[in-house]
Amino acid sequence: MSEPKKLFLDLHPDSEAVQEAVEAGLSRSPKQLPPKLFYDKRGSELFDQICTLEEYYPTRTESAILEDNIDEITERCGSSVLLIEYGSGSSNKTQFLLHSLPKVEAYIPIDISKGHLLEAQQRLEHLFPDLNVLPVCADYAQHIKLGLNRSPETHTVAFFPGSTIGNFEPEHALGFLERIHETIGIGGSLLIGVDLVKDIRILERAYNDSMGVTAAFNLNMIHHINTRLGTNINASGFCHRALYNSIENRIEMYLDATLDHQFSIGDTAYHIPRGESILTEYSHKYTLPAFEKMAERAGFRVDQVWTDRDNLFSLQFLTAH
Ligand code: AVJ
Repeated sequence: MSEPKKLFLDLHPDSEAVQEAVEAGLSRSPKQLPPKLFYDKRGSELFDQICTLEEYYPTRTESAILEDNIDEITERCGSSVLLIEYGSGSSNKTQFLLHSLPKVEAYIPIDISKGHLLEAQQRLEHLFPDLNVLPVCADYAQHIKLGLNRSPETHTVAFFPGSTIGNFEPEHALGFLERIHETIGIGGSLLIGVDLVKDIRILERAYNDSMGVTAAFNLNMIHHINTRLGTNINASGFCHRALYNSIENRIEMYLDATLDHQFSIGDTAYHIPRGESILTEYSHKYTLPAFEKMAERAGFRVDQVWTDRDNLFSLQFLTAH
């Protein structure tokens, strides 16, 4: 990639913050590593590949819901929009919105992967030469003060597709919705993708694809940590495992140690014995009433919910009151 010389807001976590997150996660019992560490350049590319897999229903289902209902969605957004996207990645789904919305004052994509974010910016500026793109490289779960200065007739719409809200445990999902509420302000809206509770076989297939892309995505977290922290953790001594926990309504993804691991980070020595697991991701699934309850607790009204015919996935339009 040729480094684009565009202006963007760089709040990317430094190596120290990454080291702290890794150390904190590995000192917990059971051990865990935060899913944001999936998304280096390679991880973002592997995620894009997951989105094209036959087994991984969320992306194509959500895109179809968005396309099939684009007129109603556009109508809800209004005639002049300030669009903020959390975890924008390649901004693929956003292109539907950008094509359809009559006026976008600015588009603010927020993503933790700098390279991926800037590539998306270049692509969008090529597709929409008049669009004002203001990229923010950041961990969107942190408090980001955007200081938005918008004209009063502009409707602030946050876009959070993909059911990435599912990465948060319910109490943190609530906190995150409250933070979005604060960012967009009363009267602002949130267009959010929420994956639904369904047959366990469909769920487990989606996270255990036959081509092993999800496994590569999971294992890439070890490579990412090695690159960022200069550690020497043996990625081939881990294997991918994903299962559905039907009590908590969530997919749980682990890296299982198939060897004894010994390594150090800074001054701390770690030992991960063979057979121990590191939790790398939760992907919570919701029922419509359970999600509505949480949205209301965070100060949102659910204006409209669109789903696919099989009720696999939902796209929801919420407004802050
Ligand atoms: C990006 C968090 C929505 O939970 O389905 C895909 C990530 N992990 N396959 C999800 C993911 C494994 C994805 N989210």
